[in-house]
Amino acid sequence: MAATLHPRRVDAFGELAGELGLCFGGDYNPEQWPREIWREDAELMVRAGVNLVTVGVFSWARLEPSPGERDFGWLDEVLDLLHAHGIAVDLATPTASPPPWLGILHPETLPVNPDGVRLVAGSRNQFTPASRVYREHAVSIATAMAERYVDHPAVRMWHVGNEFGQIDFGDEAAREFRLWLRERYGTIEALNNAWGTLVWAQRYRDFDEVLPPRRMPYLVNPAQSLDFRRYTSWALQRVFTEQRDAIREAGATQPITTNFMGFEPLTDLWEWAADVDVIADDQYPDHGSATASSDIALVQDLMRSLGGGRPWALMEQAVSATSWRPHNLPKSADRARLDSLQAVARGADAICFFQWRQARTGAERFHSALLPHAGADTEVFASACALGADLQKLRPVVGGRVAASVGVLFDWPSWWAAEEPGRPTERLRTLEQVQRWHRALWRRGIAVDLVKPGADLSAYAAVLVPHSYIVETDAAAALRAAVQRGASLVVGPFSGVADAHAGILTGRSPVLLRDLVGVSGEEWVGLPDAPTRVAAESAWTTAPAVAEASVLGERLRADGAEVLARFEDGHLAGAPAITRHRVGEGTAWYLGAVLSDAALAAVLDDALDAAGVTGVVPDRVLPEDVEGIRRGDALFLLNHGEGTRHVTVPGPHRDLLSDADVDGQATLAPGAAMVLIERHAE
Ligand code: GAL
Repeated sequence: MAATLHPRRVDAFGELAGELGLCFGGDYNPEQWPREIWREDAELMVRAGVNLVTVGVFSWARLEPSPGERDFGWLDEVLDLLHAHGIAVDLATPTASPPPWLGILHPETLPVNPDGVRLVAGSRNQFTPASRVYREHAVSIATAMAERYVDHPAVRMWHVGNEFGQIDFGDEAAREFRLWLRERYGTIEALNNAWGTLVWAQRYRDFDEVLPPRRMPYLVNPAQSLDFRRYTSWALQRVFTEQRDAIREAGATQPITTNFMGFEPLTDLWEWAADVDVIADDQYPDHGSATASSDIALVQDLMRSLGGGRPWALMEQAVSATSWRPHNLPKSADRARLDSLQAVARGADAICFFQWRQARTGAERFHSALLPHAGADTEVFASACALGADLQKLRPVVGGRVAASVGVLFDWPSWWAAEEPGRPTERLRTLEQVQRWHRALWRRGIAVDLVKPGADLSAYAAVLVPHSYIVETDAAAALRAAVQRGASLVVGPFSGVADAHAGILTGRSPVLLRDLVGVSGEEWVGLPDAPTRVAAESAWTTAPAVAEASVLGERLRADGAEVLARFEDGHLAGAPAITRHRVGEGTAWYLGAVLSDAALAAVLDDALDAAGVTGVVPDRVLPEDVEGIRRGDALFLLNHGEGTRHVTVPGPHRDLLSDADVDGQATLAPGAAMVLIERHAE
């Protein structure tokens, strides 16, 4: 399904960033404002150092006020004006929100929720990716735009739709889902077998009897749900690729992208990644959460990994408060700067915001913007200008790569299947586990790539599998090969449980990995609310003082692995909880439970030591709340904490942001950042 990426496209964003330096800007919605304001916008953009704006995202009603009646005059003027001011444009197809007339003329273009309620115009995103009529209208307006602007000198990038993540359970979706299933299974017998439809008398006689998982009396068949998720991601991707291809057919040579939403559950980004010319993402971390900084670092590592390490674009973020949370905390200017620099540190070559000018009307009137309601004479606008100046100083990092020696396995179908209801515990959440494991490495200044199961792991000294419910043969083989050649592997609980159809693999678990981990299990159980003690055996020389387990445990038996720790009490008392198995040149750890932070960190440290993985600082010890990551020749140090922090940095360096020399020790005030280059490397 994923098209081959044309090599020329791979470099297109790199060429743009090479020319502009770090891209800086955001969504610009001139159609929402009288034209008298446009010139002021352009002038203030220049003042702020803005060099890239995304135009047109929600402008369909203005571009096509009635079916087939097109009005591009205003956009001509806007593009000319921006170009005259030296501002590049990421031109968006306006297809994320059709005008009301489309749903009125063609109600089947509107999405239907699981209860059968048809959603209507008046907000945004009211389309079903299944609808041929919607897709034809979308391609038609995308084609018209592309034909008109493909050679416009302002247009340096194309942006299809916005934040794909729509789901529909209606008749249009049922039709397309059935076609998708026919393609996948060929015969209804194959589908019945894969889905195990003899359970609860679900057997289908024909594809025409199959429905999307609409509201049902009780739990849905997990295989049906898993396939509907796969179908939904595919259907959305088709909406993207149809418009992308229309733009290419019109002769576009600029990079074409769309803005992802991190770990968004409706889009399998490993499937999507090869279809975009540059990975772009929208990030709205909730700084009310104590783990926001590491959680967003994980998202940024995902974005870099999706692009195979190539620089990506932070397409949207908030400069201060959002308006869509129940309670919206502002960002300080330092926080907004730190968030932006963090993205650059982790591989972004574009730092953009939603949005340029704060909306006066509409649902997002209180969402912050680079240019607030109060105008340019504001602290927010001043901080936007300061950020623009900072980003200009970072030209030397443009195009730089982050080299990661640790790979963390993650994929969408496994996440989807793992979280279907009717499992040992709903407290085990895939993303939460990935975040916990990643956070342990983030704290140690160790760069991590996210890896798709089955991918080649030869670049990694250590491979982590926090929670991969589905492990297929190719993924198991890649893990085995990695350990054989010397990598450390750590596998978390409830991994390798199911096949690609969410059917449980029978036999002692994890069926495809048990030889590799040297341990096997026979039951998965929810653990009591009070943590279960885990007692270290003598073989675990680096055990923490207290090790505990919670959430989920497995009844394991060592089949060749050393037992490092056992459950001390409860249902699993005496059974192995943590094991280690040497295979070939490497070592595989298996965790039979969700471990407390200290126990998990101790295992990960052992695995990193065995693999010789070092961080950006000696001993992998960074002060609390300090993030450290190397991108190309630059060492980024970011202080997310409330106190001043000192980091040992051997050798003479210069901070690109302050232009100050840093010798031996970097001192970071709260919220401060440094981008250090070795002085002899300049
Ligand atoms: C994004 C969206 C933007 C805007 C923003 C507000 O999800 O793409 O259009 O709504 O959120 O935070």
